[in-house]
Amino acid sequence: MLFDFAAISPRERYKLLVSTITPRPIAWVVSQDLNGQLNAAPFSFFNALSGDPPVVGIGIGSHEPARPKDTRRNIRETREFVVNLVSEEAAAAMNITAIEFETGIDELAEAQLKTVTSVYVKPPRIAISPVSMECALMQIVELGPDNGLVLGRVLAMHVREDVVLDPAKHYIDTPRLKLIGRMHGSGWYVRTSDLVEMERIPRANWNLREHKTSSRG
Ligand SMILES: Cc1cc2nc3c(=O)[nH]c(=O)nc-3n(C[C@H](O)[C@H](O)[C@H](O)COP(=O)(O)O)c2cc1C
Repeated sequence: MLFDFAAISPRERYKLLVSTITPRPIAWVVSQDLNGQLNAAPFSFFNALSGDPPVVGIGIGSHEPARPKDTRRNIRETREFVVNLVSEEAAAAMNITAIEFETGIDELAEAQLKTVTSVYVKPPRIAISPVSMECALMQIVELGPDNGLVLGRVLAMHVREDVVLDPAKHYIDTPRLKLIGRMHGSGWYVRTSDLVEMERIPRANWNLREHKTSSRG
C-alpha cells in the first residue's frame, strides 16, 4: 500500500515512521538550564552518527507549537548534556521521566534516580545506566519550527565495570548491558537478548557463482 506523505497529516506521517523504523535505541538525556535546574527525558530519534569525530544525534521536538521540549532548550542554552543508555532494570524509571511535566520539574527527583557527577560537563549522569556519554553540543540542525536535530560530540564514556571485558582493547560485553529499544506505538519496547550472527564477507572471498551453488546446497 502506498502512503503518500504529501497527502497525509503530520501525526499520520509520524505514526508510519515510528511503527516501521524499529527498534530504536533510547537516549536518556540529562541536561541543565542556565540556573542549574536539572532535567531528564528519553528520546528514541537517536543514534551514533559518526565514529571520528564521535558524534551522536537526537531528534527533539516541542510540547506544543513554539514550546520546545526542555531538553532542546537547555542544550541550546548551555551546550552540554549527558546521554545515558537504558537497561531493562532502568526501564520503569525511564518511563517516569517521560511524563510531560511542566518546565522546572526535576524528573530525576520524581523517578528517585541517583546521579553521579560528570567529569567534563555540568549535568550529572544517571547512576543506574550501564553506559553514559558526556557530550558537548556541536550543532542543532533546525528541522522545522518545532523540531531540531541535536548533534553532540562525545567527550567521554562511562561504562559499568562488570561489562568491560578488556579495558586495554576496549571490548565490551554488549549482551550483558541488557539494553532496551523502542518499538511501535507509545508503549512497546524490545529486549536485546535475541541475537543472530552473520560474518562479514571479505571482497576476496566473494564469487557470486560459487556462493549461489553453495547456498543451494
Ligand atoms: C521511549 C521514549 C522515547 C521518546 N523519544 C522522543 C523523541 O525521540 N523525540 C521527542 O521529541 N520526544 C520523545 N519522547 C517524549 C519525551 O520524552 C517527552 O516529551 C518528555 O516529556 C520531554 O521532556 P523535556 O521537556 O523535559 O525535555 C519519547 C518518550 C519515550 C517514553
